[in-house]
Amino acid sequence: TEQDRINIAIDGPAGAGKSTVARKVAARLGYIYIDTGAMYRAVTLSALQSGIEPGDLERLTELAGDLKIELSPGEHGQTVWLNGSDVTDAIRSREVTLRVSEVAAVEAVRTLLVDMQRQLAIRKGIVMDGRDIGTHVLPDAELKIFLTASVQVRAARRYEETKHSHQVSVEQLEKEIAQRDKMDQERKVSPLLRARDAILVDSTNLSIEQVVSQIVELSRTKMAEA
Ligand code: DC
Repeated sequence: TEQDRINIAIDGPAGAGKSTVARKVAARLGYIYIDTGAMYRAVTLSALQSGIEPGDLERLTELAGDLKIELSPGEHGQTVWLNGSDVTDAIRSREVTLRVSEVAAVEAVRTLLVDMQRQLAIRKGIVMDGRDIGTHVLPDAELKIFLTASVQVRAARRYEETKHSHQVSVEQLEKEIAQRDKMDQERKVSPLLRARDAILVDSTNLSIEQVVSQIVELSRTKMAEA
């Protein structure tokens, strides 16, 4: 029933499998999946399209305040809308991926997006993934997971996902992932950090299915307690 619903926060570094896992956990539980990285990507895409440098705080803040970002959950992940246009694929481009950490470091952008994320989670039954969900966005989430994997494994997974495009080598991906981790962990505002009450799941040697089952099981325990 609705009153047994909980919120689940899944945080961790790039490429740990958060979005795949979160989407599957949500489907299994009949919950709604919210990918917060997509929101930072949408702001980044819009900035690049408008010729605004991520370092231009004033223009970036103004832009972010005027954006309308919507997420609609679907069977194969969520569709992302930016001012009414479907940007689901565009936000995954390499250009956006290479610039998004800079945008995500801007406090005014975070404040706006965190507000939206909290609104989305008011009615429970949410699986939200990101970097600061358990620490900052939903500190009261009933279940918090910190999902990691070695940099090598994360780069190899990204490579598998993107190899049809043959854009970059696995070594290059490894460097970029390590760089993004560093920026996400070292930024001043809401850095990537394991919440004290988050359960650490290391997926280096686990299949997606194993990780999903583990989290579903943990959530059933939490629901019984709630
Ligand atoms: O999960 P992702 O790769 O789509 O995230 C894109 C970027 O956004 C990543 O560099 C970290 C940042 N991010 C964040 O700072 N806070 C979140 N809650 C989600 C993502």
